[in-house]
Amino acid sequence: MLRPSLIAVPLVLSALVLPPTAAAQLSVGSDGLGDEYFPLAGNGGYDVGHYTLRLDYEPATDVLDGHVTIRATATESLSRFNLDFRGFDIQALSVDDLPASFLRDGQELMVTPQEPLTAGGEFTVDVRYSGVPDVVVDPDDSIEGWIPTDDGAFVVNEPQGSPGWYPANDNPRDKATFDFRVTVPRGKVALANGVLRRSASVGTRTTWYWRQDEPMATYLATATNGDFETNFFALDSGLPVYIAVDRPERTGANFSRIPQAIALFSETYGPYPFSAAGGIADNAGFVGYALETQTKANYANEPGASTVVHEVAHEWFGNAVTPVQWRDIWLNEGFARWSEWYFTERTGGATAAVTFRANYNSRTTAYWTRPPADLGGAEFLFADPAYRRGAMTLQALRETIGEADFFALLRTWYAENKYGNVTTAGFIETAERVSGEELSAFFQAWLYGTTRPPLPGA
Ligand code: ARG
Ligand code: ZN
Repeated sequence: MLRPSLIAVPLVLSALVLPPTAAAQLSVGSDGLGDEYFPLAGNGGYDVGHYTLRLDYEPATDVLDGHVTIRATATESLSRFNLDFRGFDIQALSVDDLPASFLRDGQELMVTPQEPLTAGGEFTVDVRYSGVPDVVVDPDDSIEGWIPTDDGAFVVNEPQGSPGWYPANDNPRDKATFDFRVTVPRGKVALANGVLRRSASVGTRTTWYWRQDEPMATYLATATNGDFETNFFALDSGLPVYIAVDRPERTGANFSRIPQAIALFSETYGPYPFSAAGGIADNAGFVGYALETQTKANYANEPGASTVVHEVAHEWFGNAVTPVQWRDIWLNEGFARWSEWYFTERTGGATAAVTFRANYNSRTTAYWTRPPADLGGAEFLFADPAYRRGAMTLQALRETIGEADFFALLRTWYAENKYGNVTTAGFIETAERVSGEELSAFFQAWLYGTTRPPLPGA
């Protein structure tokens, strides 16, 4: 929550400098976007179009110097607005090239421009900052954000690590395009989203220029850096693939599945959504998980075969099609887990029907009492119900509505929502529309029930 003593100052100032009628129409951008689990994630009153992140990192001291430019459009007339940003010393902050005043409260950075912003108008925020990043600790006690490694940093942000290294409108609803210029000691590699435009060395430092031209949610940004062996190549389709492996601890052998997974999922769901693909195998085992950072997933450990398939599937479900609310994470994780099962089915292994029944009959009961669409708290976002019962829900749906309607549904869901945001209610509506069946009892049992639903056909 905002402290009243902090918000009073800019409100009084804008009231003094504006005629009363204009002042009355101005609003203060809200400090959140209504996420149930992360009420302060994102901010109201504007829509970001593009981020330019210029980052200079020195692993020896862990100091990160940032210069970020945000291009946004005001959706209301604003006397003040917020960004999400944690830690660092802010050396300069301007709006439309004029120094702006700002106050900070936790992850809320409250910016008061000299001139109010007009609804519908574009504006630019420029922030220069420096400091040692603080790692962000999640409700499930995992760590994220800018995480130092033995040779650089492992950079991941689901669900709330981004404000730990760049100022953002940190809500999955506000997707934007990104440019990255990441400077590291010469000899080290910096990997960010999208395509590599160039790298250039000056003295002892090298700058890596990456561009993400398709919309991206803020939590999917990365700037992982360190000592990496790279293998950059193109698929027959022309799609560039960027592989980076931290040897000798990692081999990245299972990255050979990336082209195969892209081929199967493109055929099954629809064309690959982005202009690049790849994977980063870092030596950051203490982080303990992988993340589907857009176009190049980050792996803290040696990438397992099914984990690689899982992260590639997230490019469709999670990255191109993204939940509005974090509590709907099963729309990411259930789809990615089901995609693993389906990949196995289509490459000569167990069918998804068999894997589904093995999970269904498992003695683990946690995912029967905690339904995927009603997890009951942010600490359960990345636990079994969203992943395993989410995937079981999709396989049960496949066996309920039949092959033709099920695959038509997945294609429709992707085509209608690519680069956008989705809800569980939207998925149910789409499933009913595509199949022509009334499915409320099915979804009630699989997504919201607290006991094990019957098997399809039983
Ligand atoms: N989305 C990632 C995956 O399933 C997991 C991220 C876990 N993040 C966390 N803060 N626990 O591949
Ligand atoms: Zn996942």
